[in-house]
Amino acid sequence: EKGGYEHFMLKEIHEQPKAVRDTLSGRIAKDDSAVILDELKWTAEYVNSFSKVFIIACGTAYHAGLVGKYYIENLARVPVEVDIASEFRYRKPIIDDNTLTIVVSQSGETIDTLAALKEAKRLGSKTMAVTNVVGSSIAREADQVVYTWAGPEIAVASTKAYTTQLIVMFLLGAYMAGLRGTVEDSRMRELLGKLRNIPAQISETLEDVDPIKAFAQQYGYNDDVFFLGRALDYHVALEGSLKLKEISYIHAEAYAAGELKHGTLALITRGIPVVALATQRSVYEKTLSNIKEVKARDAVVIGVAAKGDTELHKYTDHVIFVPETDELLIPLLTVLPLQLLAYYTALTRGCDVDKPRNLAKSVTVE
Ligand code: F6R
Repeated sequence: EKGGYEHFMLKEIHEQPKAVRDTLSGRIAKDDSAVILDELKWTAEYVNSFSKVFIIACGTAYHAGLVGKYYIENLARVPVEVDIASEFRYRKPIIDDNTLTIVVSQSGETIDTLAALKEAKRLGSKTMAVTNVVGSSIAREADQVVYTWAGPEIAVASTKAYTTQLIVMFLLGAYMAGLRGTVEDSRMRELLGKLRNIPAQISETLEDVDPIKAFAQQYGYNDDVFFLGRALDYHVALEGSLKLKEISYIHAEAYAAGELKHGTLALITRGIPVVALATQRSVYEKTLSNIKEVKARDAVVIGVAAKGDTELHKYTDHVIFVPETDELLIPLLTVLPLQLLAYYTALTRGCDVDKPRNLAKSVTVE
């Protein structure tokens, strides 16, 4: 059942090329000019009626929602607010029939997410579910559903659900952009062409495990690990940090790199591992200067960069390279070494990877 892998988590990490390919299947026009989401059949008028989009989820799905906000705002120029389901449902959100509420849930059964969906509906919002389970409670409750086609996810730590959620979020952003005319045709073709290459690039990225195993063995006994990044790198840092915490029980924190000097830098001392993502070109120099700040405190810095980067190695102890793609799509690649790092660190520490202590796969109690 584990297909020759030692754990479901590792199997599911390696299923990502297929999961992403299946989630993309039939959803990009042959000439790369547009996204096709037959399940929605939206019109320009419908999309233009949204004054605001809410994205609501828990845990890893929430992290996918943060990337979703970035995609929808960047591509479709519609304001998006992201919230944790257990906060949203109790905070009297401002919602009316011009809001679209998107809930994201792998299982489709998370109680807080389901309750948030019901609350949004009660307040008059249009609703949509992004879920992996056909016929789940959340799929049935929402007005509209876009499925991730990740296949069953068994390991408690979510991996292929996250990457396929990112894909759906990107497709949604590009779909809305197509209807609203907010992205030029040539840019849309460029992006969708690059999106097509992502499954093969995921396979390529996953081949490079040896350095990651070595880092896990070398740094796996530290008590604290920090993850840094700006823009989309920050959102991926949050996910990398959660993965490490939940399966290896190491205290990990993700910081927006520019926020470090507002407090957290006090915790950076000699030998503390810092995983620093630096793939976002628009804030690249700013990120490098934050990396220099942690390096000056003698942290051990593991950089994550796109191939072709010739700068990062000067300011870090190691660099993990992922294939080059658009900076909007690169989270689909940078998250992979972080998933593997969490996995091999948990192995190094002898943790029960597939069933971490205190956690359940599907949280159906409050
Ligand atoms: C982390 C993880 C959890 C889930 C969260 C939401 O690896 O798996 O944080 O992402 O419990 O679950 P779903 O997506 O089923 O609503």
